[in-house]
Amino acid sequence: MSSVVHSAVQPFPVVILGGTTEAASLCRHLEQDARFNATLSLAGVTRAPHLPDLPVKIGGFGGVQGLKNWLQENGIRAVVDATHPFAATMSHNAATACTDLALPLLRLERPAWQPTEQDNWHAAASLAEAAMALANPGGWDKTPATVFLTTGRKDTRPFQDAPRHHYILRSIEPPDEAALPPHTTLITARGPFGLDDELRLLRAYEVDVLVSKNSGGDATFPKIQAARILNIPVIMIERPHPSPAPVVATAENALQWLLRHQSASTLRDV
Ligand SMILES: NC(=O)c1ccc[n+]([C@@H]2O[C@H](COP(=O)([O-])OP(=O)(O)OC[C@H]3O[C@@H](n4cnc5c(N)ncnc54)[C@H](OP(=O)(O)O)[C@@H]3O)[C@@H](O)[C@H]2O)c1
Repeated sequence: MSSVVHSAVQPFPVVILGGTTEAASLCRHLEQDARFNATLSLAGVTRAPHLPDLPVKIGGFGGVQGLKNWLQENGIRAVVDATHPFAATMSHNAATACTDLALPLLRLERPAWQPTEQDNWHAAASLAEAAMALANPGGWDKTPATVFLTTGRKDTRPFQDAPRHHYILRSIEPPDEAALPPHTTLITARGPFGLDDELRLLRAYEVDVLVSKNSGGDATFPKIQAARILNIPVIMIERPHPSPAPVVATAENALQWLLRHQSASTLRDV
């Protein structure tokens, strides 16, 4: 991994808002870099997450005011919002807090997937709109359909409004039963899932439609490839509003941004 970087000046205090592979990758760069005093912040939703060799804060801040207090108490000089593209509340809170405190903020976000000519995507602006597309009698060709629901075990409630279909839900940890649509088959499995796994699942359950967030990245892309190969339509939930912060797609570019702010602050401090 990255080589050790020494520093003659006070390390620059930064926080990485994480929960993604991009955040983990940036942390690996910062572990050996004495120019930074980096903290990784996690929401605490994943049991036994992989932790970097850095200080880690686990759990929410308590809204915008809680975040502002924490940033000030810890003397943070720059923030990288590397949360998931659908973690809209945390991104919004980070943007508001950084504006109020005049702190530099960067968004580290993987690019969205783009459809090809072989894909049959139906865009939905939200989970509720995706559920509405399935609920609407004229909106979906086949009723009941077998729906592979891959939006995450915490995002099933809106699909209770489209109760006629048969849902397939795959998760590591059990979902809240009260939030499931009535006809749901649960598959307990831990990824990553390759293309062969996804093809097998779509065929075995005779899936008619796949519902997915446009998360981007490689880790969950095989399900989209499998739907393309089997000519299965995808209800693709678009990302929430983009962050007002400048955006980079890679940990390396985020490190460059941090270095620019660290250098500028060193020059100001001498
Ligand atoms: N949404 C997804 O589809 C998805 C998928 C994979 C991973 N994740 C990761 O899972 C976490 C939770 O996602 P979510 O969609 O529930 O987020 P969210 O709706 O944007 O955030 C809900 C609350 O969780 C806390 N939180 C979120 N991210 C945090 C972080 N990195 N550090 C400290 N507190 C954080 C904040 O609590 P306070 O207001 O108390 O500060 C926030 O208000 C995120 O870190 C995200 O990167 C999300």
